[in-house]
Amino acid sequence: MGRKSQEPPHNMNKERTSNGMNRRHFLQTGAGFAASTMFLSLGGIRSFAATNARENSIPSVPLNNGLRMPLLGLGTMTLDGDVGVRCVADAIALGYRLIDTAMIYGNEVSVGAGIRQSGIKREELFITSKLWKADMGYEQAKKGFQTSLDKLKVDYLDLYLIHRPTGDVQGSWKAMEEIYHAGKIKAIGVSNFEPAQLDDLIAHNEVKPAVHQIETHTFFQEDKAHDYLKQHGIQHEAWAPFAEGRNKLFTNATLAAIAKKHNKTIAQVCLRWHFQRGIVAIPRSSQKAHIAENLNIFDFNLDDSDLATIAALDLNTTQFPEWS
Ligand SMILES: NC(=O)c1ccc[n+]([C@@H]2O[C@H](COP(=O)([O-])OP(=O)(O)OC[C@H]3O[C@@H](n4cnc5c(N)ncnc54)[C@H](OP(=O)(O)O)[C@@H]3O)[C@@H](O)[C@H]2O)c1
Repeated sequence: MGRKSQEPPHNMNKERTSNGMNRRHFLQTGAGFAASTMFLSLGGIRSFAATNARENSIPSVPLNNGLRMPLLGLGTMTLDGDVGVRCVADAIALGYRLIDTAMIYGNEVSVGAGIRQSGIKREELFITSKLWKADMGYEQAKKGFQTSLDKLKVDYLDLYLIHRPTGDVQGSWKAMEEIYHAGKIKAIGVSNFEPAQLDDLIAHNEVKPAVHQIETHTFFQEDKAHDYLKQHGIQHEAWAPFAEGRNKLFTNATLAAIAKKHNKTIAQVCLRWHFQRGIVAIPRSSQKAHIAENLNIFDFNLDDSDLATIAALDLNTTQFPEWS
């Protein structure tokens, strides 16, 4: 599977918002950090696994239908076969509950095997898959969804996303609404949509998307998209929260200095930054040590000056131009 053919044309940076204060200013003034701290203390986010006594148990956020979604999960693109099984099982054993896969990743069988190997009850997990463009349309979407269930060997999904806004979006959404009402998907959403496409979907359908999964990281911060999603009550989820290491993210001197200050790694600073923005992040790793490291972000805070410094790293453009 070529990554090039797999991922999205998407240009949310063209988006306009009616918000007076842009997100960078919000963060620079310190209001963002204060608000995120207040969000945490008011219980907007709470521990996902109430029974998990680990220091790093993962907080969750309520979606627009009341379902709670963990704010951190495991991305699985390219994790297939034995590696995929091992990574998913390791992640769940470490405390992850959200697992993100997609039909086009070709790994739903391995992801399902990893889930079963973990021994954790299905209802404690939050499993996401995505409808690929070849399966767009009312009838095909129903079949595509069932194929994902069969491969994962589960009888429902927590979240099902339209992977890309191509083909018969409205017909696909109708099918997803019906499956949602039948109780076989707990929440439905989209990925890589332009604001106008989201507006159209919302205007012509009964169920509003609960989640929008888009490229978001320190080099493409998506402030305007974030504001738009907030205004519409749609949860922002970040794909490629490390930009896959592009633009030398893992050796960036600015991020390294912030990491050193907090005795953390660059990866942990990036994930903490997503968390403090209230964005769900799904970092991928094939290494157990990294999977564990990426979970260890709930015992420190980025302060106003850290947030302002990171805000200044925004290049406001995709790091995946080959997918545009
Ligand atoms: N909806 C969409 O269109 C879309 C598009 C892309 C991705 N996604 C989803 O988002 C997930 C995450 O995005 P991604 O996989 O593209 O990239 P990513 O999570 O931004 O980066 C993955 C890379 O980071 C490395 N890494 C992970 N943890 C690390 C750590 N602690 N220290 C150093 N390096 C670390 C990994 O290497 P190691 O394996 O060596 O740790 C891997 O090379 C995907 O897996 C997929 O589930 C969705």
